[in-house]
Amino acid sequence: MSRQNTAGRPYDVVLFGATGFVGELTAEYLAAHAPDGLRWAIAGRSTEKLRRLRDRLPAAAGVGVLAADVSDPASLRELAVHARVVATTVGPYVRYGDALVAACAEAGTDCLDLAGEPEFVDLTYVRHHTRARETGARLVHACGFDSVPHDLGVYFTVRQLPEGVPLTVDGFVSVDAAFSGGTFASALGQFARGRQLRAAALERRRREPRPAGRRAVTPTGAPRFAGEVGAWALPLPTVDPQVVRRSARALDRYGPDFRYRHYAAVRHLPVAVGGAAAVGALVVAAQVPAARRLLSGWLAPGEGPSAERRARSRFSVRFVGEGGGRRVCTEVSGGDPGYGETAKMFAEAALCLAVDDLPPTAGQVTTAVAMGDALTGRLRAAGIRFRVAATR
Ligand SMILES: NC(=O)c1ccc[n+]([C@@H]2O[C@H](COP(=O)([O-])OP(=O)(O)OC[C@H]3O[C@@H](n4cnc5c(N)ncnc54)[C@H](OP(=O)(O)O)[C@@H]3O)[C@@H](O)[C@H]2O)c1
Repeated sequence: MSRQNTAGRPYDVVLFGATGFVGELTAEYLAAHAPDGLRWAIAGRSTEKLRRLRDRLPAAAGVGVLAADVSDPASLRELAVHARVVATTVGPYVRYGDALVAACAEAGTDCLDLAGEPEFVDLTYVRHHTRARETGARLVHACGFDSVPHDLGVYFTVRQLPEGVPLTVDGFVSVDAAFSGGTFASALGQFARGRQLRAAALERRRREPRPAGRRAVTPTGAPRFAGEVGAWALPLPTVDPQVVRRSARALDRYGPDFRYRHYAAVRHLPVAVGGAAAVGALVVAAQVPAARRLLSGWLAPGEGPSAERRARSRFSVRFVGEGGGRRVCTEVSGGDPGYGETAKMFAEAALCLAVDDLPPTAGQVTTAVAMGDALTGRLRAAGIRFRVAATR
């Protein structure tokens, strides 16, 4: 790895997709929290929309405006060479994301996104990890509610347990929130692409080396009543356990034999059964093009929950970790997971890559590997709670 010197570039951080639902929230967060002297810009396909957004932001007169469109690869290359860090909300990523990651990997530019799409994450590993390692670019996916609380929550939990022994951690996610058109479109797209998703995962498995002499696995748990959290636990096969597994494989601190299981925690059985049936019905409907088109009209891109709904939303992820004769219960919690807190996690991750003193990493890396301590510290300071609930 020979990290390219990007210090002389015009911008420390460029936010691409700033005019979208999460993009605007992230721009507002950056306008309110960027450190003095940070050189940052908003980017997107409509400079008119971007200028209107900049006019609405407090104290953002010096913020740059850059035009770029995912259908114009030259504009993405321009974006990549003008920034040290590019944060993109332009999703669904499997449809729109690849050319920007390619441009950043080539230019040695750090690139982070909100991708909760395992197929996209696997494809960027296959296509761009090697080049990014050569140029020193850090490609960090899933920097929102997918998968920051889970990845950093497990990282936090592991560090409460003894070193050098086999460890097991179970994570239980509870959410009370609504979602946006962009998130719905990404989920629907993923449900319809089972075959491509499996092919990308297989291609990645062929290429990715495993750690020598250590093991980290994330088996799908069985549905059960989990007395330790007082709720029904349903296996949750999202991108989150995959991210946790990658962190565990990269970091020796997770021990010689690590296992993580990821669950949704639901207090009442009828709600658990109804939720599972609704997701199942959506997966089935997504296979039929006409039904998919009908469903995608239900919530348009750019739309999302109102400020009042977001103010009432919250999340909690409880972890139970065991190893070396010790047991620990921890919790990561906060407000609106999909939007308010996602914008906070995303903006803080961008600032962390741009400003903080981090361990030397490159290529596709997880949030825990690239910025574990620094990002945890930032999020705690910004009001996301990481706490040890009990130990034994
Ligand atoms: N990980 C998480 O927890 C989490 C949470 C929330 C969202 N997300 C993901 O984040 C992504 C964004 O969600 P959202 O609700 O903000 O979506 P959105 O409102 O639809 O915003 C999408 C953005 O992409 C831009 N865009 C679309 N086509 C483009 C093109 N050809 N060139 C350049 N820009 C283009 C849009 O620009 P215009 O304004 O010009 O249309 C807009 O700025 C989705 O993939 C969603 O799944 C993840």
